[in-house]
Amino acid sequence: MNSAYEIHPNVYWVGGNDRRIERFENMFPLTNGVAYNSYLIMDEKTALLDTVDAAISAEYIENIKSVLQDRTLDYLVVNHMEPDHCANIEEIMRRYPSVQIIGNAKTLQFFNQYYTMNMADHFLEVKEGQEISLGSHVLRFYMAPMVHWPEVMVTYETTRGILFAADAFGAFGALSGNLFADEVDYDSYFLDEARRYYTNIVGRYGSQVQALLKKLEGLPINMICSLHGHIWRGEMISYILDKYDKWSRYIPEKKGVVLAYASMYGNTENAVLALASKLAKRGVKDMRIYDVSKTHPSYIISDIFKYSNVVFASPTYNMHLYFPMDSLLRELSVLNISNRKVSLIGNHTWSSAALKTMTELVNGMKNMEIVGTPIDIKSSLREDREHELDALADAISESLKD
Ligand SMILES: Cc1cc2nc3c(=O)[nH]c(=O)nc-3n(C[C@H](O)[C@H](O)[C@H](O)COP(=O)(O)O)c2cc1C
Ligand SMILES: [Fe+2]
Ligand SMILES: [Fe+2]
Repeated sequence: MNSAYEIHPNVYWVGGNDRRIERFENMFPLTNGVAYNSYLIMDEKTALLDTVDAAISAEYIENIKSVLQDRTLDYLVVNHMEPDHCANIEEIMRRYPSVQIIGNAKTLQFFNQYYTMNMADHFLEVKEGQEISLGSHVLRFYMAPMVHWPEVMVTYETTRGILFAADAFGAFGALSGNLFADEVDYDSYFLDEARRYYTNIVGRYGSQVQALLKKLEGLPINMICSLHGHIWRGEMISYILDKYDKWSRYIPEKKGVVLAYASMYGNTENAVLALASKLAKRGVKDMRIYDVSKTHPSYIISDIFKYSNVVFASPTYNMHLYFPMDSLLRELSVLNISNRKVSLIGNHTWSSAALKTMTELVNGMKNMEIVGTPIDIKSSLREDREHELDALADAISESLKD
């Protein structure tokens, strides 16, 4: 039985969901799976926009067949040549041998690096702004390099104002029957997963996302169809565009403090808990404490993108920064995190390294302000140094008033 869904007259969602998948890219935990969206436009010509991951091929083919019925497929637009969307291109070419594949020069190059069928014979290369008419629908192509990968492009359907946005505006999380963001309580759960998806998957490419947003400015957009997550329409379009604008400019969504610590024997943790308590007593709201050895970095990174302030606290380990903290900071640096207020707490027993390395890594990031005087604990924080923690709490709570 198929689950295809007409999202707009003659435009169908034919994707699927994988709830069994443990981790996206074998790295990011998925507590509620992921959706692989694909769309089919029925007109004088039929056009499929992207395919799906290998894990859901059977469901996918059933959906396509249910919409096409006895018609053939004329076009397959490949907006993104990453395997989570391309695993079924060969299957489509086998089933519909006359299909023309639309992409750019890099699309073909990447296809040939991953797969073995001869795509060149089917290939129709498009350039920036080029249009292809399906009859009453017209597809226009805009290149969106590095809005995840170099070959990415988006397809704008000009007559209905539908943007097929590749990975942009996507989210983790499988869809539960409701395909549209306005049909679910988006803020309660899905937004966190959209942010975790954006920041970890696309986070590094803020300037490229900004370039895409500029390109789209002025285009009437009635619907945004991403390759993951819900479809955006109505008021939810400005909702997600506003989030993307903030995330891609590395501007915090709100004031608040993420306290990310590492600790083996609980002493660094103890100092962080005392700091959080002192901050709460100073009226600081919306704090999030994370043990970097326990919580997957993708969640911590997502919250660091959300909030204005962050405290990193870590012991020294074998003359280095404790590795999970080292890894978190390097990942944040690769993701180009910037514009945050950072406070630092190190810990050591015989020779300090953690605080120095954390300071260097944070200083290597763009526009990061160190708030308060960093504290280097000697094994455990004693009463005689409580005033340092108080001063740090004062500085952090002051910085939240700016
Ligand atoms: C395997 C191991 C290696 C460590 N290496 C260092 C080190 O190189 N230099 C140092 O000053 N302390 C080192 N320490 C001590 C930690 O920094 C110590 O755990 C910390 O001072 C106390 O904080 P905690 O209770 O939060 O773990 C090491 C501890 C462990 C368990
Ligand atoms: Fe991707
Ligand atoms: Fe993707």
